[in-house]
Amino acid sequence: MARHFLDLSDAGGDAVAAMINDAISRKAGRSGFVKGRADSDKPLDGHVLAMIFEKNSTRTRVSFDIAMRQLGGTALVMDAASTQLGRGETVADTARVLSRMVDAIMIRTDDHAKIEEMARHASVPVINGLTDRSHPCQIVADLLTVIERGKALPGLEVAWVGDGNNVLSSLLEAAGLMKFNVRVGTPKGYEPDAEFVRNARAAGSRLTLTDDAVEAVKDADVIVTDTWVSMGQEHAADKLAAMAPFQVNNALMSHAKADAIFLHCLPAHLGEEVTEDVFESNQSAVFLEAENRIHAQKSILLWAFERL
Ligand code: CP
Ligand code: NVA
Repeated sequence: MARHFLDLSDAGGDAVAAMINDAISRKAGRSGFVKGRADSDKPLDGHVLAMIFEKNSTRTRVSFDIAMRQLGGTALVMDAASTQLGRGETVADTARVLSRMVDAIMIRTDDHAKIEEMARHASVPVINGLTDRSHPCQIVADLLTVIERGKALPGLEVAWVGDGNNVLSSLLEAAGLMKFNVRVGTPKGYEPDAEFVRNARAAGSRLTLTDDAVEAVKDADVIVTDTWVSMGQEHAADKLAAMAPFQVNNALMSHAKADAIFLHCLPAHLGEEVTEDVFESNQSAVFLEAENRIHAQKSILLWAFERL
């Protein structure tokens, strides 16, 4: 049975730690290389990744492509709308066909049930490139970024402010696996997915849920936010109004630790979830975070191919 990466718990805490360590050492090992040059050991020489996009992407698309090149393999993009999947061919048949043609499948889609269906029928690894439920690849890059900026995960105080969305769900899953704490500040009605909250708490993570943004960020080591309107959602005026007190601005950042770092998976909407001065500040690690998508994807791929 292939190793699928639909959520971080498919790998578990030890494997996520191994991914981060591997990413750090591979990143250091190719210092000075041009971006498309393969790592010296080319561990995925000859391997092909198919990437299916049912939603837009810049970082996930490019980072997986470059990750495959750096590992010695290649990637191809399937824009779902121009494939037979977009005309109604079943996920099950698509999974079985692709399994005979490529070595792994990455899919970005809406309904998480679709990726589960893909994994059930694929005989090669299936990787979650974002669903409405979760975005695990993003969080591996985020953890790598936090560590690279000099912070240890156990006991880390992470604050999430804004919408209780798919990225937050994966952050909560990581908190349970890697033993850090999360204070979640969301408006009423936009709280995180209860299943992820329950599981993180059961795993020993201390989670605080509040509708007070200041309480969420107080003395935090890391402040994280994301768009108030995820792909596939309406730009509802009442939601934007409810989110306004959760904007990450200098006043809010002043309640966090002085050396707190700011993360955002991007794309950002300056003046909505974050102000330009926070986004462009020295505390902001958003472009390192984006670059780290490549290094994280490489480790995720190596794990999926049982090389980690
Ligand atoms: N953060 C992220 O997943 O970016 P893309 O939507 O550009 O892939
Ligand atoms: N929560 C956002 C993340 C984009 C990378 C979305 O789902 O659109």
